[in-house]
Amino acid sequence: MVEAPGKPGALIRFIAADAAATELLGAQVAARSTPGLRIFLDGELGTGKTTFVRGFLASVGHEGAVRSPTYTLVEPYRTRIGPVFHFDLYRLVHPRELEALGYRDYFDGSGICLVEWARRGGPLLGTPDLHVLFSPQDSGRLLTFEAQSDTGVAAIPPLLPRVPAVS
Ligand SMILES: Nc1ncnc2c1ncn2[C@@H]1O[C@H](COP(=O)(O)OP(=O)(O)O)[C@@H](O)[C@H]1O
Ligand SMILES: [Mg+2]
Repeated sequence: MVEAPGKPGALIRFIAADAAATELLGAQVAARSTPGLRIFLDGELGTGKTTFVRGFLASVGHEGAVRSPTYTLVEPYRTRIGPVFHFDLYRLVHPRELEALGYRDYFDGSGICLVEWARRGGPLLGTPDLHVLFSPQDSGRLLTFEAQSDTGVAAIPPLLPRVPAVS
């Protein structure tokens, strides 16, 4: 039996033991993402946000490197599921820079937005469909998913099937 992935506002946590597991979670979200989905990725430096994006993009046909667009703030990709925009707001000094970037054209379009360091964008960015919080967990990472819309709920990776108890 596979459990339902929750409802808006519920927190669902996954432990990713290594980088490959983080990539797999990214791929699983990509497989469930619909046009226009906004995904915010927050957590300290080195907690796996770009790794997650790499797994997401590779699974929808992007070949080649994925680097955090730290200086350009946004990098567009053409994928099997349509345009995907990868933001990295680490170096954002003022949310005004987002206006200059024309972020609304990205956010209000049908492309999927993946936003590293979304919290640096402040309230201007609004609410995502899915918020993923990354933190260290032993030698791996803890990924906490919070969906804030029905499409966000639908994008949460599947939970492991429950193993039936053996009597
Ligand atoms: N689940 C994980 N367990 C251990 N290391 C991981 C995991 N996910 C990613 N990493 C590693 O953490 C480092 C930083 O990852 P990165 O995705 O660049 O972080 P961020 O974008 O959050 O700064 C990379 O070396 C990556 O391979
Ligand atoms: Mg990064």
